[in-house]
Amino acid sequence: MSRILLHEETLDPNFLPPKLVHRSAELQRLTRRYGESLSHGVPFHLQINGGIGSGKTALARRLGSDLERQGRIGPAPVKTVYINAWRRASDRTVALDLLRAVDVHLPDRGYSLSEMLDVFEQGVRRHPRHYLVVLDEAGALVRQETKIVYLLSRAAEVGLGSISLILIAPDDLFPYLDPASRSSFGPTHRIALAPYTRDQLTDILSVRAELALRPGSYDPSVLGQIARIAAPNGDARFALELLGGAAHSAEEAGRETIASEDVRAAKGSIYPTVSESQLEGLSTQGLTVLLALARSLRRKGATISSQKLRETHAGLLEEFQEKTVSRTTFWRTLKELDRAGLIGLEVGPSGTAAEVSMDEMPASYLATLIEERLGHGPATRR
Ligand SMILES: Nc1ncnc2c1ncn2[C@@H]1O[C@H](COP(=O)(O)OP(=O)(O)OP(=O)(O)O)[C@@H](O)[C@H]1O
Ligand SMILES: [Mg+2]
Repeated sequence: MSRILLHEETLDPNFLPPKLVHRSAELQRLTRRYGESLSHGVPFHLQINGGIGSGKTALARRLGSDLERQGRIGPAPVKTVYINAWRRASDRTVALDLLRAVDVHLPDRGYSLSEMLDVFEQGVRRHPRHYLVVLDEAGALVRQETKIVYLLSRAAEVGLGSISLILIAPDDLFPYLDPASRSSFGPTHRIALAPYTRDQLTDILSVRAELALRPGSYDPSVLGQIARIAAPNGDARFALELLGGAAHSAEEAGRETIASEDVRAAKGSIYPTVSESQLEGLSTQGLTVLLALARSLRRKGATISSQKLRETHAGLLEEFQEKTVSRTTFWRTLKELDRAGLIGLEVGPSGTAAEVSMDEMPASYLATLIEERLGHGPATRR
């Protein structure tokens, strides 16, 4: 059997993609801005804001790596120091990471912040560089009484060498900065990344799928399905996680291509969303429509047209020896299921037809749940 995940490491959140789709304008602007400043030997400080998975970390790392590759800019070449200040970070842990960047390994205890920074300064003298310090997940640190942001943003004045500081956080940290640091992080020193749109997520997914997966192992409709699921938060991280999960699910099932059902399985394992109690609250009408949908999707596809679904539903009612329902009732039921978050409904331009999706759990599993509930067990399953 041919594998699907040929280069799984390229789906890892820590993998830095060679090209950032839909962030090239931002990247270009920043590269130019840094080039101008650094060529005059002047640091540039920056804050990057944006929601989860909006590409903040990737943008900063890409910028750092691109600047490093340019070699000498002005008086010195750039070296990027990436520090994740998540959770238990303090000025001292940040200082330890800085020391590591200049090849000094101090024990965690016994040194004051200013002693550590003295040692850092000696290290900087041995390796003269312009240091681009990326302080990722800086929110908690800045909300504490931090001195290090001030020290790094005034590095030249306090004798720490040449340092540009990038602060990354979901929300604007300006209000939490001490007055002395604020002057370094004014409005022109801040970039806010918008959540990715569904189309942008599709593009990001296809570039990453090309890197990670065997050609022919996925259909564009699967990427579209994932983008649709991730679009409400514009979160590329979640989208890539789903892609990896779906690829795994297909491989585990011994298949050579990723199916829509694999995407649902991946979503269900990340966020189990549909509970049996949600099904309990549904009318028989709602259950039969959902079952028709689950059966159709179980066979094939990420979505089904409302027209097709209505036909399948009619067939199912016949099988259950129930009366058919009017178009209006069918439509109202779809709306109810949509409102309950059980299905997705995308109405086309004419307003009469729609694409119906169900991404919450594997369709085969949902079908079984409903069949049990309706008392039509596997015996009558088609
Ligand atoms: N424009 C892009 N092109 C290609 N891949 C991208 C792009 N933006 C983000 N990614 C990928 O999406 C994932 C999440 O991006 P990233 O880690 O930069 O988000 P973030 O904004 O830092 O999120 P968080 O707030 O959760 O840290 C990473 O794997 C990253 O490589
Ligand atoms: Mg990040």
